[in-house]
Amino acid sequence: AIIPVILAGGKGERFWPLSRRQRPKQFLSLDGSGNTLLQATAHRLLNLASGWNNIWVITSEMLASGVQNQLPQLPPENCLVEPEGKDTAPAVAWATLEIAKRYGENAIIAFFPADHWIGDTEKFEQTIAAGVELATQEAAIVTLGIKPSYPATGYGYIEQGNTTGNYQGLSTYQVTRFTEKPDRATAESFIDTQRFSWNSGMFIFRAEVVLAELKQHAPEIVTPLQEKGKAAYSDLPKNSIDYALMEKTQLAYVIPSEFGWDDLGDWKALERLLKGEKANVEVGTHFGVDSQGCIIYNANPEETVVTLGLEDVVIVRDRGVTLVVKKDRTQDIKQLLKELQADN
Ligand code: GDD
Ligand code: MG
Repeated sequence: AIIPVILAGGKGERFWPLSRRQRPKQFLSLDGSGNTLLQATAHRLLNLASGWNNIWVITSEMLASGVQNQLPQLPPENCLVEPEGKDTAPAVAWATLEIAKRYGENAIIAFFPADHWIGDTEKFEQTIAAGVELATQEAAIVTLGIKPSYPATGYGYIEQGNTTGNYQGLSTYQVTRFTEKPDRATAESFIDTQRFSWNSGMFIFRAEVVLAELKQHAPEIVTPLQEKGKAAYSDLPKNSIDYALMEKTQLAYVIPSEFGWDDLGDWKALERLLKGEKANVEVGTHFGVDSQGCIIYNANPEETVVTLGLEDVVIVRDRGVTLVVKKDRTQDIKQLLKELQADN
């Protein structure tokens, strides 16, 4: 059995104005289905966890009530609330400490981002089960590798070494190098070698393995948490688990994965999620004439967005804000928000 932990403390600012400070990406239904990304993530894990009692969520104080509203079946004591967001290294360290207290240091824990799209749930479950077996047998921090399709700079890159075995019909490999968010040229050179995969952001391990590794590579994070618990947060450095641990550990393994994965990083992701036969990607009411390549998200059922002769433009209409942005600038919405300094 595994204890899945959902990392749900991020901001997802690139989906503004649909995402707001109190309602980040994981609380949204991007495909308009009504199921939010957080809900989809939790439901996907129910089988593996054998029910709600073993599912955990770690989030920030500001988002805690939202998490409980969205996941009413989650036992309240399984929702860890960070006083402030310090990125994923403290989140992983603290959650692992708390879970080790409850289930023992042998517990197999798996961390999942709250904001991903997964295509094939059955294959996903099989891959996680393989990771669980590997983490049970070896002192391993198991990552799931995604075949890269372009030299992205927003992901971690995993270099695949020798194979270490076969679990649940899937091959596992040693990781010879982990590089978080390389620059473009480095990403291109990684892809050229064909030895790298993208890091999916999911990690599987035995609690004691990661606690020992954190002790060695990130004592500034794990030691205060061990000594003071949650009270340590205000003095903790901000860092992600990728930089703090994955780039340094010698115990990383990778399982090349093929369950269909998308990070849903910005508005353009909707094209991959929803692209059909239509000229534009539309959620909500849009009436377009001679418009194509546009992404329209109209959250207001009372209004119609009308476009004429528009190309490659993103229009988002939600709660008093209308955003119009060229499709190739959606990455910069984060920057825009800084300049806008609105109380979003
Ligand atoms: N509890 C908590 N506290 N959760 C957090 C915090 C925090 O301070 N910061 C981020 N998260 C959550 C986010 O909500 C998300 O679900 C997950 O942790 C990952 O954080 P991101 O901020 O989205 O990370 P990233 O996308 O830049 O990079 C990670 O994911 C990529 C794949 O999507 C890395 O693991 C990369 O290596 C990886 O390729
Ligand atoms: Mg992310």
